[in-house]
Amino acid sequence: MIFRQLFEPLSSTYTYLIGCEETGQALLIDPVVNSIERDLGVVREHGLTLAWTLDTHIHADHITAALHLKQQVGSRIAMPAMEQLGCADAGIVEEAPFRLGSVALQPLHTPGHTDSHFAYLLGDRVFTGDALLIDGCGRTDFQNGDARTLYESVHTKLFTLADECLVYPAHDYQDRRVSSIGQEKRRNPRLGGERSLEEFERIMAELKLAYPKFIDYAVPGNRRCGVCPEGLPDELQAYCVSMTHSPQG
Ligand SMILES: [Fe+2]
Repeated sequence: MIFRQLFEPLSSTYTYLIGCEETGQALLIDPVVNSIERDLGVVREHGLTLAWTLDTHIHADHITAALHLKQQVGSRIAMPAMEQLGCADAGIVEEAPFRLGSVALQPLHTPGHTDSHFAYLLGDRVFTGDALLIDGCGRTDFQNGDARTLYESVHTKLFTLADECLVYPAHDYQDRRVSSIGQEKRRNPRLGGERSLEEFERIMAELKLAYPKFIDYAVPGNRRCGVCPEGLPDELQAYCVSMTHSPQG
């Protein structure tokens, strides 16, 4: 298996490239539209063909590259089935492993950050999306989020994995790249240690986070599998521009 962790700095998103060495096929988990050129370059560098993109959830802080990648290289789009997106080629459900050649990802329905959120388990690692971040978790106050539900998801679906299982989150804002289930169980200040459900609900209720600046554009755009919305204010234009797109010809 070929594996790369790619960072998109504007939204501090991690995109994951997984390639099957037997078939030469690749998939990207949570690709970001403004990193398309970079990501395709990495796919090509490894001699792979991009077959699929998978999103862990409908993102509110960036536009998924799913649709643009489909248009550019013919990759197919997998999204959580319960979103019933007409633009998706496949719906992710927990009951069905997602297979790419010799690679099989086990989707884990982990609602709470959003109601249709999935983590993906792949052998010794789990891609936790925004359900579990390193020393943190995604917010629970938008997109049918719910703190109690997130606590249950993390404790029943993720903290029950092996302590050695590597945790690859969808974001990190402090240059950390990987954790483990054991580390998060012990140290996560919101969900780990002996934190009770009631403590977690209080922590999340008291975060007092600002209204997400891109959510009103990102969510509708991502429900169309990654369309940059019309009328984007100037200060948000960067979210729809390829960061590595060469200015000349
Ligand atoms: Fe998110």
